[in-house]
Amino acid sequence: MPATPDPVATGRTDPLAVVTGATAGIGAAFARRLARDGYDLVLVARDATRLDGFATELSERHGRSVETLPADLSTEDGCAAVERRLTGGRPVDLLVNNAGIALTRSFLRTTVEDEARLLRLNVSSVMRLTHAVLPTMTERRAGAVINVSSVAGFGALEAGSTYSATKAWVTNFSESVGQAARPYGVRVMALCPGFTRTEFHQRAGINTSSMPGWIWLDADAVIDDGLRDLRKGRLVSVPDWKYKLAVVALRHTPQRLLHRLTRSTKVLVGRGGR
Ligand SMILES: NC(=O)c1ccc[n+]([C@@H]2O[C@H](COP(=O)([O-])OP(=O)(O)OC[C@H]3O[C@@H](n4cnc5c(N)ncnc54)[C@H](OP(=O)(O)O)[C@@H]3O)[C@@H](O)[C@H]2O)c1
Repeated sequence: MPATPDPVATGRTDPLAVVTGATAGIGAAFARRLARDGYDLVLVARDATRLDGFATELSERHGRSVETLPADLSTEDGCAAVERRLTGGRPVDLLVNNAGIALTRSFLRTTVEDEARLLRLNVSSVMRLTHAVLPTMTERRAGAVINVSSVAGFGALEAGSTYSATKAWVTNFSESVGQAARPYGVRVMALCPGFTRTEFHQRAGINTSSMPGWIWLDADAVIDDGLRDLRKGRLVSVPDWKYKLAVVALRHTPQRLLHRLTRSTKVLVGRGGR
């Protein structure tokens, strides 16, 4: 039996997890951890070559069955393909909705197409895949969904960034749906990391050179904390004491002061050219 999320355990010896955004950063760390803990996997991302290479690595190292599902979750076709995988065939014990992006520019300078793509990936795909997987989970009275959100969702920390709005939605959604699913023995949890070393910032064109080392989290540690919180039945998980404190501060700092602070600190903003 896997040591990972006990609430997910269905009595089967080979539980199945679906991880989106599985080829890099937090998603890849989830996939490694779950394979090590005895899960078979379905890995989702856009780059099919990278997916295949990673699937081979995981199945050779851990002896698990690892399936790949290349899909762009910001598109109708990509999202529908993953929905079909979640609703048909072998039931899924754990869904990790991890794929997500940030935009490089402020809302004043983005295109409406980029903003719509952000919403389709960070919000709509999370809603659709959770909606697809829950009926089987509630019927089986077992299973879990982890939606990877962010501490950025606890406040409008950066003028003009709509990323935090998408993550506020993910956290609120998970907390709400998690309460509804709990009586069925199913867990839904928002995992809200702070700055974590991955490919994320480079992809978004975010300049991190001025950020101090202590601000960064390690993806494996984020996952350890998240899985521990899932086992405890938490609806929202904020890994690392630094970020737990930051969330308390965000919740209690008057908004005008917060906005003044975030305008004047490059630590929270850390982007150039906007
Ligand atoms: N890193 C941080 O500091 C941080 C902090 C808080 C929250 N988060 C959240 O953590 C999650 C994972 O971020 P990360 O830092 O691990 O990012 P990352 O290193 O950039 O990895 C992103 C993964 O998502 C996939 N992906 C990107 N766009 C996709 C799309 N349209 N459809 C399907 N897959 C897609 C990428 O593969 P392909 O390019 O091949 O599709 C890759 O596997 C995100 O939701 C992010 O918002 C990150």
